[in-house]
Amino acid sequence: MTTTLPDDVRPGSGASAALGDTAVLPAVDDTAVLEPVAGAPAALGSLAGPVPATPSTPSTLEARAVSAWFGSHKVLDRVSLTMPAGQVTALIGPSGCGKSTFLRILNRMHELVPSAALAGSVLLDGADIYDASRRVTDARRRIGMVFQKPNPFPAMSIAENVTSGLALTGVKVSKGEREQIVESALTRAGLWKEVKDRLRAPGGGLSGGQQQRLCIARSLAVRPRVLLMDEPCSALDPTSTRRIEETIGELSQEVTIVIVTHNMQQAARVSQQCAFFLAEAGTPGAIVEHGDTEAMFSQPSDPRTHDYVNGRFG
Ligand SMILES: Nc1ncnc2c1ncn2[C@@H]1O[C@H](COP(=O)(O)OP(=O)(O)O)[C@@H](O)[C@H]1O
Ligand SMILES: [Mg+2]
Repeated sequence: MTTTLPDDVRPGSGASAALGDTAVLPAVDDTAVLEPVAGAPAALGSLAGPVPATPSTPSTLEARAVSAWFGSHKVLDRVSLTMPAGQVTALIGPSGCGKSTFLRILNRMHELVPSAALAGSVLLDGADIYDASRRVTDARRRIGMVFQKPNPFPAMSIAENVTSGLALTGVKVSKGEREQIVESALTRAGLWKEVKDRLRAPGGGLSGGQQQRLCIARSLAVRPRVLLMDEPCSALDPTSTRRIEETIGELSQEVTIVIVTHNMQQAARVSQQCAFFLAEAGTPGAIVEHGDTEAMFSQPSDPRTHDYVNGRFG
């Protein structure tokens, strides 16, 4: 079956053949593969400011009527959602309903898939990240991503892992600034105390939970306004999971967080807003219900939400 795509559908870039599974690529580094940083300073936006060790301010992210396709297979249908500045928004729903696809659309990673297309818009503080005049690298730097499986550069030192995103931007920072950025990002990611005496040790030597916090620190070092997290704890033990959840709570002051989770308790613990995605009987994924997390868990307005949050399916 062939679907005719609407006029405003944006095709995939077709640039990802050499990239393989985007989910295992470090969020900041893949951008350099796609768009070499020659002449980077002009493209740096907020990075070109003063010492980048300081935290950023969170932004509001708004998806408007976002639809997505892989080839002719439509996987999301007109999803609209506002993710308010400084809050944690949880995306919940059964496997295959399009949560990861939605997240990748929010920082322009969906277009890395050759057959991918999308319609709709994504606004970061009111400005469309898909606007033709805006660079894809700019969107990905302002909107960071942490994946399910921690993906530090294993042979690179802990400190170098943190600054790896900065280095790729071509920003020259002094040694002192670099040290400040490393300490600040690791502190905000809740890892500083555990690693401050072994910053030169390889990132691959850390435990899974520490590696995930290292990846969070790497994302924070480029001062994102939004941090997207796709099931960041699903490969971790309960203690590491709790530690990441604490970190999320602390970070929400400085960065807007959107987290996909299959764990309803986790959604209840970490988020203020929640959106329930569902793809029913072969139809594309859509939001059934969204709103205040507590209200959605205690008094959902849709019976399907009630059944899902109470573990009846999914
Ligand atoms: N790279 C891809 N190519 C083709 N189809 C894909 C690709 N990634 C995901 N899909 C399909 O898109 C739909 C949504 O997947 P996904 O966004 O991963 O859902 P979720 O994260 O909610 O489990 C599924 O039907 C899945 O098979
Ligand atoms: Mg997923």
